[in-house]
Amino acid sequence: MSRKRILTGYRPTGKLHLGHWFGNLQNMLELQHDYDAFYFVADWHAMTTMWSDTHEIRRYTEEQVLDWLAAGLDPERCTIYRQSDVPEVAELALYFTMVTPMSWLERVPSYKEQRDQITDKDLGNVGFFEYPLLQAADITIVNADLVPVGEDQLPHVELTREIVRRFNNVYGGGADGKGFLVEPAALIAKIGARVPGTDGRKMSKSYGNAIFISDGPDEIRAKVMSMITDPARKLKTDAGDPDVCPLHQIHKLIAPAGEISEWDSCCRSAECGCVSHKKKLIEDLTAYLTPFRERRIELAEKPGYAWEVLAAGAERARPVVREVITNVRRLTHIEAE
Ligand code: TRP
Repeated sequence: MSRKRILTGYRPTGKLHLGHWFGNLQNMLELQHDYDAFYFVADWHAMTTMWSDTHEIRRYTEEQVLDWLAAGLDPERCTIYRQSDVPEVAELALYFTMVTPMSWLERVPSYKEQRDQITDKDLGNVGFFEYPLLQAADITIVNADLVPVGEDQLPHVELTREIVRRFNNVYGGGADGKGFLVEPAALIAKIGARVPGTDGRKMSKSYGNAIFISDGPDEIRAKVMSMITDPARKLKTDAGDPDVCPLHQIHKLIAPAGEISEWDSCCRSAECGCVSHKKKLIEDLTAYLTPFRERRIELAEKPGYAWEVLAAGAERARPVVREVITNVRRLTHIEAE
């Protein structure tokens, strides 16, 4: 029995942080054992917003791959590649532009939101508008069955299904003639925690509130000491509310439940203060991230290693994407059947 195929990707934004780790990287690690897993770096997607300054994309790509490998993604088990090394993706996206009404792209929530919210970049380009269509091609170019993503990506997977259905209706193919392309389903992470940053907002590199999984003891100490806690707790003698405290939220992800409930009641009764809890989090987080950081340092000592992994991954992906694009070319009568 052949294993189901999964595909997911990250836009390269540099070093990975705890938000990635608890959001879905842990999940990707588990899935590589049970599925035919394709994990790729979406460098063209990064370009849709970084088009006017693309200098950092290669460096970000390399850092992301090293973080993935240090975290435990195994290039022997899963296929790790870079989107732009598989130009068939761009060709499939072109076919998708033919069957996709503009109105479908206009109503994607992330499009409207980001265009309104990101004011320091010009997002009036066609590439940004087409972002979800390119994502549909990423998924379909390997005919993935499942897409492990966070909730925020559900509209993109839904749109992919609609585009695939439209394509299949028009061009057919497949064993039953009902369509060659696979309609993918989202696979929502089992763990999937929303991780707050040091300022209490969602952890994100662009907010400057991220703790990177490669951070060393000094960085961890400085960042945790600067963290906000329960804003209503002004004095150590005030009772705190762990439910609104980012410190508690992060600690909960790495410490045993018994220990957490002690900190919890200690905070509610104002018996312990935020500084002592910060010191404990620094200790626990440093211990938690050390093995990762050591592997990361080792990997960074092999020059070009990330690029070797990506090149090998693209080679592995090639027969899969060639099969899909050849079928698409035949079904659309661009090539003879
Ligand atoms: N849009 C995704 C994100 O911002 C990245 C992405 C691009 C992706 N193509 C994909 C995710 C295909 C899953 C499948 O996180």
